[in-house]
Amino acid sequence: MKRIGVLTSGGDAPGMNAAIRAVVRTGIAKGWEVFGVQRGYAGLPTGSMRPLGTRDVSGIIQQGGTFLGTARCPEFATEPGRVEALRQLRQQSIEALVVIGGNGSQQGSFALSEMGFPVVGIASTIDNDLYGSDITIGVDTALNIALEAIDRLKVTASSHQRGLLVEVMGRDCGYLALMAGITGGAEAVVIPERETSTEDVAKVFHDAYQKGKKHALVVVAEGAPSNGEALVRYFKEYDKLEFDLRVTTLGHVQRGGSPTAFDRLLATRLGAGAVDAIESEEFGCLVGSIGGDVRRTPLSEVVSKQKELDLELLDLAQVLST
Ligand code: ADP
Ligand code: F6P
Repeated sequence: MKRIGVLTSGGDAPGMNAAIRAVVRTGIAKGWEVFGVQRGYAGLPTGSMRPLGTRDVSGIIQQGGTFLGTARCPEFATEPGRVEALRQLRQQSIEALVVIGGNGSQQGSFALSEMGFPVVGIASTIDNDLYGSDITIGVDTALNIALEAIDRLKVTASSHQRGLLVEVMGRDCGYLALMAGITGGAEAVVIPERETSTEDVAKVFHDAYQKGKKHALVVVAEGAPSNGEALVRYFKEYDKLEFDLRVTTLGHVQRGGSPTAFDRLLATRLGAGAVDAIESEEFGCLVGSIGGDVRRTPLSEVVSKQKELDLELLDLAQVLST
C-alpha cells in the first residue's frame, strides 16, 4: 500500500478541483491511500491533512477554485519551514506528494525534492508562464471569462463611441492579455514582454478616432509598465483623448469561473499523469501538456528555464487591428 499526498498552492486556477479528483480516484484505483493537504504548503507543518475517498471528490469537477484551499506561504520558502513540513510528511507516512500550482509552487516542489522527498508537480496557473507545459490548468477558463467581458464591453462602448482600456491578470506574463486581445479584436495589446510607451497607446486611441471607429479597445496586462493605472494617469495629466475613456480591471473575476471542458479534461489527464509518474517512481518532475501529450519535465529545468511568449502573435495582433 502506498500513501500519497496532494495539495494546491499559490493562485487558485479553475480546474484544480478536477486535478485533485483525478489524483484521488486514479490513486485509489491503484490501491493507494490519498491524503488531501489543506491550504497548500501552509498545511504541511501543521499536519492539516486527511484521507480522501472517492466520494469526497464527488461533485467538484465543475467547480472553480480548490476545495482543499490554497495559500501563499512565505515560511515554506525558508529551509526551517521546509524541514518542519518534511517532518510532518514523514510522521504521517506520506510517501510521495503531488503539488498542483504555478511557478512559485513548483519552485517549492523542487526545493522539497532537493531535500530528498519524492514530489511530482502538476502545471496549474492562469498566467500560463510555467516552463514544461504548453498550456496550464485554468488558462482556458480565465481567457474565456476575459473574452466574454470584452465582448460585452465592446457593445456598450460602440453605442457611446468610447475608448476601452481593459486590464487583465498577468503579474509577469502577457499571455492572457495577448490572447484576449487577439480574440477580442483589440486595437492594441500591452504586455510586459515588449516595451510599449504610454505615448504609443495614446497614438492608438487617436488614430482609431481619426479613422472614425465606433470604439477602440486596448488590452493591458497588469504587470506591464504601461498598465491600467499608468495609462489613466498619463491620459489625465498629459494627453486628452478624443474618445471618452472607460477603464475595466477584470482582476480576480478571471480566476473564479467554472472550468471549461478544456480545463476539466487537461486537469484530469495531468492528475492521472501525476499518479502514473509516482507509480513509475519518476520523481522531481512536472507533469504538463506538450504538443497535446502528457509529458514529464525535470523540475530542475522547470525552475531554471523561462517559457517564451510567441511575440509573432503580438505582431499579428497589430496587423489585424487596422
Ligand atoms: P504560484 O504557484 O501561483 O506562482 P506563488 O508564487 O505565490 O504562486 O508561490 C506559491 C508558494 O510557493 C509560495 O507562497 C511559497 O510557499 C512557495 N514558494 C515560492 N517560491 C519558492 C521558493 N523559491 N522556494 C520554496 N518555496 C517557494
Ligand atoms: O495566479 C497568478 C495571478 O493570477 C497573477 O496574474 C496575479 O498577479 C496574482 O495571481 C494575484 O493573486 P492574488 O491577488 O491572489 O495574490
